[in-house]
Amino acid sequence: MAIGILLVGGMGTRLKPLTNQTPKPMLPVAGMPVTERQLLAAKKAGINTVILATSYLSEVFTPYFGDGSKWGMKLLYAVEEQPLGTGGAIRNAAALVDFADSAEEFVILNGDILSGHNISAQLDFHRRNQADATLHLIEVADARAFGCVPTDSNGRVLDFLEKMERPVTNAINAGCYIFNSSVISQIPENTVVSIERETFPQLVKSGRSVFGYSEQSYWLDIGTPFALFQGSRDIVGEGFLVGQGSQIGEGSVITGGTSIGQSSTIGANCRITNSIIGDGVQIGNSCTISDSFIHHHSQIADNSKTLGKYISPTENLPISAQ
Ligand code: GDD
Ligand code: MG
Repeated sequence: MAIGILLVGGMGTRLKPLTNQTPKPMLPVAGMPVTERQLLAAKKAGINTVILATSYLSEVFTPYFGDGSKWGMKLLYAVEEQPLGTGGAIRNAAALVDFADSAEEFVILNGDILSGHNISAQLDFHRRNQADATLHLIEVADARAFGCVPTDSNGRVLDFLEKMERPVTNAINAGCYIFNSSVISQIPENTVVSIERETFPQLVKSGRSVFGYSEQSYWLDIGTPFALFQGSRDIVGEGFLVGQGSQIGEGSVITGGTSIGQSSTIGANCRITNSIIGDGVQIGNSCTISDSFIHHHSQIADNSKTLGKYISPTENLPISAQ
């Protein structure tokens, strides 16, 4: 069965300060890190071995996921001392398994995407076309911030244009790739390589069989604070979500798709809206919190107002509007 690779080594620069102590894929979205949601999606597609390609704050992943047995999966960790770029990270991760002559495909996920698309259907499509590489494509209103991917009427990829000012199509790279091992062998070892700016354009130019699998499912890149809050709200839906062992004091009103993690305590008469609250957080009485990210194990004093803030046990910083 196919082997998964999660690209989770980026710096999460656009999400700062939320990523000061936590890599972007480990930030809780509706009470669960994006990485965990992706593992569940991979498992649903029958992928049981997944390699986490880590770099920035790599030490945060292992204590949470361990060997993967809690999820009934096998997890391996490929740590880049210096970030190798998306292509270098894939090559480095695949080296953990004996891939050279393998008939198994690799399913590679950008680590910051919430996607409801059908990975099994993408794999079927890849096999039916006998493709070397198959990218999930999605249509967006404004393609400028993404990889633009024009295809022909059979879905064959004609070009790959990363972040262009005047996009030639609204179909973009949605960050889930299926590669045959021969594609991985082509990426140079121990070298910084961008899959988007180098590997994809080269594959297309050299006439390799690269296909776009179009599926217009729920899709979001959580790469900015605004998007992170939106992603969490989308999952929570109306109202709010509370994790196991958390308690909410009398008279407190929680709205706007707020999510509260596990074993957190909210005092009495608080007003909380559009916020993400982690595990083991203690919030006093009569607090107002809106548009804020309260990290695991933070404490907030009685009567405080927290508007558009990032709070961790050691930090209290504004979240810039993006
Ligand atoms: N291991 C590792 N090493 N991971 C990395 C590295 C690295 O050097 N650089 C980036 N990543 C990971 C990030 O953590 C993220 O999960 C993923 O690769 C994509 O990087 P982003 O920085 O989020 O890229 P982007 O959002 O600007 O663009 C990418 O995603 C778009 C879809 O959201 C591109 O793949 C676009 O083509 C695509 O449309
Ligand atoms: Mg991204």
